[in-house]
Amino acid sequence: MSRTQYYTAATLDGFIADPDNSLEWLFSRKRDEAGALDYAGFIADVGAIAMGSTTYEWIVDYEDSSGKWPYEQPSWVFTHRELPAFTDAQIEFVSGDVAPVHEKLVRAAGGKNVWIVGGGDLAGQFADAGLLDEVLVTIAPVTLGAGAPLLPRRIELSLEEVARNGDFVCARFGVVR
Ligand SMILES: NC(=O)c1ccc[n+]([C@@H]2O[C@H](COP(=O)([O-])OP(=O)(O)OC[C@H]3O[C@@H](n4cnc5c(N)ncnc54)[C@H](OP(=O)(O)O)[C@@H]3O)[C@@H](O)[C@H]2O)c1
Repeated sequence: MSRTQYYTAATLDGFIADPDNSLEWLFSRKRDEAGALDYAGFIADVGAIAMGSTTYEWIVDYEDSSGKWPYEQPSWVFTHRELPAFTDAQIEFVSGDVAPVHEKLVRAAGGKNVWIVGGGDLAGQFADAGLLDEVLVTIAPVTLGAGAPLLPRRIELSLEEVARNGDFVCARFGVVR
């Protein structure tokens, strides 16, 4: 059955990016590509993607040299602004209530999972609407003190799985409804 998953990396103090939107604290760590919560295994089961505009703009900057959208799955980007689009990518810009967009995501996913890439508040909007099933997080051995928050809400979770991958603690939580 299709699950809506927030899959991300975070610092021990709950940030997914530093105050300059940098992920240097993440990319400098050891991680086994075939280990727990590995990206290839995860993305193989994803059929549709949603993200907020800061995350989108980070990808635009990061992928600038190739000019290619990194995902094959149909993607929805939440924004109130007009953002530069990638050619040859299935991206829809949307705003407001996440519930009608979630219906589209699930339909597009065709039985596969829906990935909420981030940020934390957007994942929280899906949780508020009762539409988030899981939080999968790889925790890096670092604290930052400030940055973009992992999940700025009170959400009850149940720990379903925990493992080590290289420098990271990997945990899969179910959202308690
Ligand atoms: N560690 C990781 O693995 C990981 C994963 C994902 C992201 N990140 C990073 O974490 C940071 C996240 O940034 P962020 O916290 O600012 O979150 P974000 O969700 O990427 O962007 C937030 C913005 O999205 C737009 N938005 C959100 N909800 C909306 C809605 N319902 N309707 C319309 N627009 C909406 C708003 O911008 P506008 O309306 O002004 O456009 C809002 O300011 C980025 O630096 C990203 O690169 C890290």
